[in-house]
Amino acid sequence: MNKAVFVIVGAGQAGAVAAAELRRNGFNGRVVLIGDEPHAPYERPPLSKELLLHPETARCQLFPDDFYAEHNIEVRLGTRVTAIDPAARHVSLNNGETLPFDRLLLATGATVRRLPLLDQLGEDIYTLRTLDDARVLQSVIKRGRRIVLVGGGVVGLELASSAIDLGAHVTIVEQAPMVMGRCSPAILNEYLCKVHSERGAVLHIGTAVTHACRDNGEIALTLADGTRVTGDAIVYGIGVEPDTSLASAAGLEVDNGILVDERARTSHPAIYAAGDAAKQWDPHTGHYRRLETWENANRQAVAAAKSMMDIDADKVGAPWFWTDQCGLNIQFAGDMTGAQWIVRGTMGEPGFMLLGVCDDRLVAAVMVNRPRDMRSARMLIDKQVRLAPESWRDSQQSLRSLLNGG
Ligand code: NAI
Repeated sequence: MNKAVFVIVGAGQAGAVAAAELRRNGFNGRVVLIGDEPHAPYERPPLSKELLLHPETARCQLFPDDFYAEHNIEVRLGTRVTAIDPAARHVSLNNGETLPFDRLLLATGATVRRLPLLDQLGEDIYTLRTLDDARVLQSVIKRGRRIVLVGGGVVGLELASSAIDLGAHVTIVEQAPMVMGRCSPAILNEYLCKVHSERGAVLHIGTAVTHACRDNGEIALTLADGTRVTGDAIVYGIGVEPDTSLASAAGLEVDNGILVDERARTSHPAIYAAGDAAKQWDPHTGHYRRLETWENANRQAVAAAKSMMDIDADKVGAPWFWTDQCGLNIQFAGDMTGAQWIVRGTMGEPGFMLLGVCDDRLVAAVMVNRPRDMRSARMLIDKQVRLAPESWRDSQQSLRSLLNGG
């Protein structure tokens, strides 16, 4: 009997973790992992930090070199899937080859949202998404250089922190009224801005770039509030777009992400999706949601691999992610919208936490330099523990003790 062929498109975090998970669960058919980048699968979190700060020693490779051969995973790097034929169950590759599949996982990720106003300037305009992007930035962000970061999201703020560490002069331009607005609660905004400005970054928040030009060898930006900002280089991070082009062309259901159910199944019975490109049904809220996090890529990859093997998926916990910036480890869990926030500790002094409470239940938490408390917070969120408001406020009571009813 022919062995089943499982093809994975996209050799990033989700794709590689799914391949490993298939083997971990005893799948003994062919696993083909296809990625268009020339590099073995790597993790993105170090790109804005360790890769810039310690280029000689930083490592971001997901698995050791021999992992794929050891686990009989066929890795095709520098190879693009150009089309999927769901009826014939094969994919076409840019080298002219056609590869049949029994089951297909789309882990195509996301690409940087472009800002034509800046792109039209050509040189000295950069973005950060890939390992190659990070290697370029290693030679751009240097002591004494004036770096303008457009977009005060996770990429912008992490780069601001690294650039200051490297001795560059940093200006941040964010068009929304707060930094990290996609994934952080408004209550944290002032603190984050203060931390960055105390380290020397100049922040322009709530104002967009309206004009950009080259002026006497430097780049000059005009902001909506009339401010003129100049710099030697611009790095912009204004978000990403899910890469859904293959899925759309194949007729799968797509809506700013490839729509999948709780078990990572798309609208086609042999095709699955995971990671930044997937938008998953959330039974708790009754909506699809797309999450751009390391943890989500791992979790969905595991769910997809199990689903491809007809194994039941594990229960899904509250979403979680972290950022490291300005010497702070900040972790976020749960739904950042719609909660009432309680500050435990003193905002402004590292080692505080924010608890987001709704109907006496913890629905979200932010830990600033308190990584150990995150585990209890996530369990409190997942178990939907209901407590009187005083208990959530009382910083003398550990979150761990609240798990047992206070
Ligand atoms: P983001 O969604 O976190 O933030 C984008 C920010 O840009 C928002 O605050 C938005 O208001 C702002 N913005 C949008 N248009 C703008 C404009 N025209 N002018 C000024 N500001 C504008 O996206 P970000 O920071 O680009 O990150 C992209 C992805 O990369 C995320 O999924 C993130 O989780 C991931 N990431 C990767 C890292 C890495 O490679 N090490 C590190 C951190 C994040």
